[in-house]
Amino acid sequence: MSEVDEGLVWVPKAAEIAREAGARLREFFAQGVETEYKGDVDLVTVADRTAEKLIRERLAVAFPEHGIYGEEGTRERMDGEFRWYVDPLDGTTNFAHGFPQFCVSMGLEQRATEKVVAGVIYDPMRDELYTAERGRGAWLNGKPIHVSRTPVLAESLVSTGFPSRKRHDSPNIHFYHEFTLRSHGVRRAGSAALDLAFVAAGRLEAFWEFNLNPWDTAAGVLLVEEAGGRLSDFAGGEFQLDSRETLASNGLIHGELVELFKNMFAGRDLSPIPTPQEFALARAERAAAAG
Ligand code: IPD
Ligand code: CA
Ligand code: CA
Repeated sequence: MSEVDEGLVWVPKAAEIAREAGARLREFFAQGVETEYKGDVDLVTVADRTAEKLIRERLAVAFPEHGIYGEEGTRERMDGEFRWYVDPLDGTTNFAHGFPQFCVSMGLEQRATEKVVAGVIYDPMRDELYTAERGRGAWLNGKPIHVSRTPVLAESLVSTGFPSRKRHDSPNIHFYHEFTLRSHGVRRAGSAALDLAFVAAGRLEAFWEFNLNPWDTAAGVLLVEEAGGRLSDFAGGEFQLDSRETLASNGLIHGELVELFKNMFAGRDLSPIPTPQEFALARAERAAAAG
Protein backbone atom coordinates (compact mmCIF):
# COMPACT_ATOMS: atom_id res chain seq x y z
CA MET A 1 0.00 0.00 0.00
CA SER A 2 1.44 3.37 -0.89
CA GLU A 3 1.00 6.60 1.05
CA VAL A 4 -0.84 8.12 -1.92
CA ASP A 5 -3.60 5.52 -1.44
CA GLU A 6 -4.25 6.83 2.07
CA GLY A 7 -6.24 9.84 0.89
CA LEU A 8 -3.58 12.27 2.04
CA VAL A 9 -4.43 15.93 1.55
CA TRP A 10 -1.15 17.84 1.40
CA VAL A 11 1.64 15.26 1.26
CA PRO A 12 1.45 14.15 -2.39
CA LYS A 13 1.99 17.66 -3.76
CA ALA A 14 4.47 18.69 -1.06
CA ALA A 15 6.47 15.52 -1.66
CA GLU A 16 6.69 16.30 -5.36
CA ILE A 17 7.98 19.81 -4.54
CA ALA A 18 10.52 18.52 -1.99
CA ARG A 19 11.79 15.97 -4.52
CA GLU A 20 12.21 18.64 -7.16
CA ALA A 21 14.07 20.96 -4.75
CA GLY A 22 16.20 18.03 -3.57
CA ALA A 23 17.12 17.18 -7.17
CA ARG A 24 18.38 20.78 -7.60
CA LEU A 25 20.44 20.45 -4.41
CA ARG A 26 21.92 17.21 -5.74
CA GLU A 27 22.99 18.99 -8.94
CA PHE A 28 24.56 21.86 -7.00
CA PHE A 29 26.29 19.36 -4.72
CA ALA A 30 27.81 17.56 -7.72
CA GLN A 31 29.04 20.87 -9.24
CA GLY A 32 30.26 22.44 -5.99
CA VAL A 33 28.95 25.86 -5.01
CA GLU A 34 30.41 29.07 -3.65
CA THR A 35 29.78 29.75 -0.02
CA GLU A 36 28.86 33.05 1.58
CA TYR A 37 28.92 33.85 5.28
CA LYS A 38 25.79 35.01 7.13
CA GLY A 39 27.77 35.37 10.36
CA ASP A 40 31.36 34.42 11.21
CA VAL A 41 30.66 30.69 10.73
CA ASP A 42 27.06 30.68 9.56
CA LEU A 43 27.05 29.63 5.92
CA VAL A 44 24.64 30.07 3.05
CA THR A 45 25.04 29.03 -0.57
CA VAL A 46 23.31 29.79 -3.83
CA ALA A 47 21.75 26.35 -3.43
CA ASP A 48 19.83 27.38 -0.26
CA ARG A 49 18.36 30.38 -2.07
CA THR A 50 17.59 28.58 -5.32
CA ALA A 51 15.82 25.75 -3.49
CA GLU A 52 13.79 28.17 -1.36
CA LYS A 53 12.69 30.12 -4.46
CA LEU A 54 11.62 26.91 -6.20
CA ILE A 55 9.65 25.74 -3.14
CA ARG A 56 8.03 29.16 -2.69
CA GLU A 57 6.88 29.26 -6.33
CA ARG A 58 5.59 25.68 -6.36
CA LEU A 59 3.76 26.02 -3.01
CA ALA A 60 2.09 29.24 -4.15
CA VAL A 61 0.64 27.37 -7.14
CA ALA A 62 -0.28 24.18 -5.27
CA PHE A 63 -1.74 25.86 -2.15
CA PRO A 64 -2.46 29.52 -3.02
CA GLU A 65 -4.14 30.18 0.35
CA HIS A 66 -1.24 28.90 2.45
CA GLY A 67 1.39 31.05 4.12
CA ILE A 68 5.11 30.35 3.69
CA TYR A 69 7.85 31.04 6.24
CA GLY A 70 11.26 30.13 4.85
CA GLU A 71 14.67 30.22 6.49
CA GLU A 72 16.15 32.26 3.63
CA GLY A 73 13.66 35.09 4.05
CA THR A 74 10.33 34.09 2.48
CA ARG A 75 7.40 35.61 4.39
CA GLU A 76 4.18 35.20 2.43
CA ARG A 77 0.51 35.28 3.45
CA MET A 78 1.51 35.27 7.10
CA ASP A 79 -2.13 35.63 8.21
CA GLY A 80 -3.31 32.48 6.39
CA GLU A 81 -5.00 29.61 8.22
CA PHE A 82 -2.15 27.30 7.25
CA ARG A 83 1.58 28.04 7.14
CA TRP A 84 4.47 26.08 5.63
CA TYR A 85 7.75 26.24 7.53
CA VAL A 86 10.43 25.65 4.92
CA ASP A 87 14.09 24.81 5.37
CA PRO A 88 15.24 24.52 1.75
CA LEU A 89 18.59 23.05 2.80
CA ASP A 90 19.00 21.72 6.32
CA GLY A 91 22.65 20.87 6.80
CA THR A 92 24.23 23.76 4.89
CA THR A 93 27.58 23.41 6.60
CA ASN A 94 27.74 19.76 5.52
CA PHE A 95 26.64 20.69 2.01
CA ALA A 96 29.27 23.42 1.69
CA HIS A 97 32.01 20.97 2.72
CA GLY A 98 30.87 18.14 0.46
CA PHE A 99 29.68 16.04 3.42
CA PRO A 100 26.60 14.20 2.11
CA GLN A 101 24.14 14.69 4.98
CA PHE A 102 21.48 17.33 4.28
CA CYS A 103 17.84 17.56 3.26
CA VAL A 104 14.81 19.62 2.29
CA SER A 105 12.29 20.06 5.11
CA MET A 106 8.70 21.35 4.83
CA GLY A 107 6.18 21.31 7.67
CA LEU A 108 2.59 22.62 7.51
CA GLU A 109 1.15 24.24 10.65
CA GLN A 110 -2.56 24.82 11.22
CA ARG A 111 -2.33 28.12 13.00
CA ALA A 112 -5.53 27.96 15.07
CA THR A 113 -4.41 24.75 16.77
CA GLU A 114 -0.66 25.44 16.49
CA LYS A 115 -0.33 21.81 15.37
CA VAL A 116 1.77 20.57 12.50
CA VAL A 117 -0.61 18.72 10.19
CA ALA A 118 1.75 17.62 7.40
CA GLY A 119 5.48 17.10 7.09
CA VAL A 120 7.86 16.16 4.30
CA ILE A 121 11.61 15.64 4.53
CA TYR A 122 13.62 14.63 1.47
CA ASP A 123 17.19 13.35 1.65
CA PRO A 124 18.45 13.71 -1.93
CA MET A 125 21.69 11.79 -1.42
CA ARG A 126 19.91 8.62 -0.27
CA ASP A 127 16.76 9.32 -2.28
CA GLU A 128 14.75 8.92 0.92
CA LEU A 129 11.42 10.69 1.26
CA TYR A 130 9.83 10.89 4.73
CA THR A 131 6.19 11.95 4.88
CA ALA A 132 3.48 12.30 7.50
CA GLU A 133 0.01 13.72 7.95
CA ARG A 134 -1.54 14.10 11.38
CA GLY A 135 -3.48 11.01 12.41
CA ARG A 136 -2.46 9.01 9.34
CA GLY A 137 1.01 7.69 10.19
CA ALA A 138 4.53 8.29 8.95
CA TRP A 139 6.17 6.86 5.88
CA LEU A 140 9.58 6.38 4.30
CA ASN A 141 9.45 6.03 0.51
CA GLY A 142 5.81 4.98 0.82
CA LYS A 143 6.32 2.35 3.54
CA PRO A 144 5.06 2.90 7.12
CA ILE A 145 7.77 3.64 9.69
CA HIS A 146 7.84 3.21 13.45
CA VAL A 147 10.16 4.40 16.19
CA SER A 148 12.50 1.85 17.77
CA ARG A 149 11.51 -0.40 20.67
CA THR A 150 14.74 0.00 22.64
CA PRO A 151 13.66 0.40 26.27
CA VAL A 152 16.67 2.07 27.94
CA LEU A 153 19.15 4.87 27.24
CA ALA A 154 22.05 2.51 27.93
CA GLU A 155 21.16 0.56 24.76
CA SER A 156 20.35 3.62 22.65
CA LEU A 157 22.02 5.49 19.81
CA VAL A 158 21.16 9.17 20.15
CA SER A 159 21.90 12.40 18.36
CA THR A 160 22.26 16.13 18.91
CA GLY A 161 23.41 19.30 17.18
CA PHE A 162 25.20 22.52 18.01
CA PRO A 163 24.29 26.03 16.90
CA SER A 164 26.44 27.85 14.37
CA ARG A 165 25.55 31.20 15.95
CA LYS A 166 26.22 32.24 19.58
CA ARG A 167 28.14 29.04 20.19
CA HIS A 168 29.68 30.37 23.39
CA ASP A 169 26.25 30.53 25.04
CA SER A 170 25.50 26.84 24.50
CA PRO A 171 25.90 24.38 27.41
CA ASN A 172 25.33 21.44 25.06
CA ILE A 173 28.82 20.00 25.25
CA HIS A 174 28.05 18.96 28.86
CA PHE A 175 24.98 17.07 27.67
CA TYR A 176 26.94 15.57 24.78
CA HIS A 177 29.49 14.28 27.28
CA GLU A 178 26.95 12.85 29.71
CA PHE A 179 24.88 11.17 26.99
CA THR A 180 28.04 9.70 25.46
CA LEU A 181 28.83 7.97 28.75
CA ARG A 182 25.28 6.69 29.22
CA SER A 183 24.38 5.40 25.74
CA HIS A 184 25.82 3.50 22.77
CA GLY A 185 26.92 6.88 21.44
CA VAL A 186 25.93 10.36 20.35
CA ARG A 187 25.93 11.27 16.67
CA ARG A 188 26.28 14.88 15.60
CA ALA A 189 25.58 14.61 11.91
CA GLY A 190 24.64 18.24 11.14
CA SER A 191 21.03 18.13 9.95
CA ALA A 192 18.41 18.46 12.68
CA ALA A 193 15.55 17.59 10.30
CA LEU A 194 17.25 14.35 9.27
CA ASP A 195 18.03 13.57 12.92
CA LEU A 196 14.29 13.78 13.66
CA ALA A 197 13.46 11.69 10.59
CA PHE A 198 15.96 9.07 11.80
CA VAL A 199 14.21 8.93 15.20
CA ALA A 200 10.91 8.39 13.38
CA ALA A 201 12.46 5.62 11.27
CA GLY A 202 13.91 3.83 14.33
CA ARG A 203 17.54 4.51 13.32
CA LEU A 204 18.09 6.63 16.42
CA GLU A 205 16.36 6.32 19.80
CA ALA A 206 16.45 10.04 20.59
CA PHE A 207 17.50 13.52 19.51
CA TRP A 208 17.82 16.78 21.42
CA GLU A 209 18.98 20.28 20.57
CA PHE A 210 18.86 23.78 22.04
CA ASN A 211 17.51 26.76 20.10
CA LEU A 212 16.26 25.23 16.89
CA ASN A 213 13.89 27.17 14.66
CA PRO A 214 10.45 26.06 13.43
CA TRP A 215 11.79 25.48 9.89
CA ASP A 216 14.26 22.92 11.36
CA THR A 217 11.69 21.04 13.42
CA ALA A 218 8.17 21.39 11.97
CA ALA A 219 8.25 18.41 9.60
CA GLY A 220 10.41 16.21 11.83
CA VAL A 221 8.32 16.52 14.97
CA LEU A 222 5.21 15.34 13.14
CA LEU A 223 7.16 12.40 11.69
CA VAL A 224 8.27 11.37 15.18
CA GLU A 225 4.77 11.67 16.65
CA GLU A 226 3.13 9.83 13.77
CA ALA A 227 5.77 7.08 14.00
CA GLY A 228 4.74 6.50 17.63
CA GLY A 229 7.45 8.58 19.34
CA ARG A 230 7.32 11.44 21.81
CA LEU A 231 8.18 15.12 21.72
CA SER A 232 8.62 17.54 24.59
CA ASP A 233 10.74 20.36 25.92
CA PHE A 234 13.64 19.39 28.21
CA ALA A 235 11.36 19.45 31.27
CA GLY A 236 8.90 17.01 29.69
CA GLY A 237 6.38 19.80 28.95
CA GLU A 238 4.48 20.12 25.71
CA PHE A 239 6.68 20.77 22.68
CA GLN A 240 5.91 23.95 20.80
CA LEU A 241 7.41 25.06 17.52
CA ASP A 242 8.79 28.20 19.15
CA SER A 243 9.84 26.58 22.43
CA ARG A 244 13.60 26.55 21.63
CA GLU A 245 14.00 23.15 23.31
CA THR A 246 13.57 20.00 21.26
CA LEU A 247 13.59 16.56 22.84
CA ALA A 248 12.40 13.69 20.64
CA SER A 249 12.50 9.99 21.43
CA ASN A 250 10.96 6.61 20.83
CA GLY A 251 8.75 7.33 23.87
CA LEU A 252 10.10 4.39 25.86
CA ILE A 253 13.23 6.23 27.04
CA HIS A 254 11.59 9.67 27.29
CA GLY A 255 11.14 9.60 31.07
CA GLU A 256 14.78 8.65 31.54
CA LEU A 257 15.90 11.52 29.30
CA VAL A 258 13.75 14.12 31.09
CA GLU A 259 15.09 12.89 34.44
CA LEU A 260 18.67 13.25 33.20
CA PHE A 261 18.00 16.80 31.97
CA LYS A 262 16.39 17.67 35.31
CA ASN A 263 19.34 16.34 37.28
CA MET A 264 21.93 17.96 35.05
CA PHE A 265 20.21 21.37 35.18
CA ALA A 266 20.25 21.00 38.99
CA GLY A 267 23.97 20.25 38.92
CA ARG A 268 23.51 16.59 39.87
CA ASP A 269 24.65 13.42 38.14
CA LEU A 270 27.58 15.00 36.28
CA SER A 271 30.31 12.48 35.53
CA PRO A 272 33.85 13.72 36.13
CA ILE A 273 36.15 14.09 33.15
CA PRO A 274 39.88 14.85 33.26
CA THR A 275 40.91 18.29 31.98
CA PRO A 276 43.50 18.24 29.18
CA GLN A 277 46.05 19.47 31.72
CA GLU A 278 45.22 16.71 34.22
CA PHE A 279 45.42 14.18 31.40
CA ALA A 280 48.81 15.53 30.27
CA LEU A 281 50.17 15.41 33.84
CA ALA A 282 49.00 11.81 34.28
CA ARG A 283 50.54 10.91 30.92
CA ALA A 284 53.86 12.53 31.91
CA GLU A 285 53.80 10.67 35.24
CA ARG A 286 53.19 7.36 33.46
CA ALA A 287 56.06 8.09 31.06
CA ALA A 288 58.39 8.98 33.96
CA ALA A 289 57.39 5.83 35.87
CA ALA A 290 58.08 3.71 32.78
CA GLY A 291 61.58 5.25 32.72
C1 IPD B 1 21.37 23.62 11.12
C2 IPD B 1 21.35 22.11 11.17
C3 IPD B 1 22.21 21.60 12.30
C4 IPD B 1 21.81 22.19 13.64
C5 IPD B 1 21.81 23.71 13.56
C6 IPD B 1 20.92 24.19 12.42
P1 IPD B 1 21.06 24.77 8.70
O1 IPD B 1 20.52 24.09 10.09
O2 IPD B 1 20.05 21.62 11.36
O3 IPD B 1 22.13 20.20 12.43
O4 IPD B 1 22.70 21.74 14.63
O5 IPD B 1 21.33 24.19 14.81
O6 IPD B 1 20.96 25.60 12.36
O7 IPD B 1 21.68 26.09 9.08
O8 IPD B 1 22.04 23.83 8.10
O9 IPD B 1 19.81 24.91 7.91
CA1 CA C 1 18.16 24.20 9.43
CA1 CA D 1 18.88 25.87 6.12
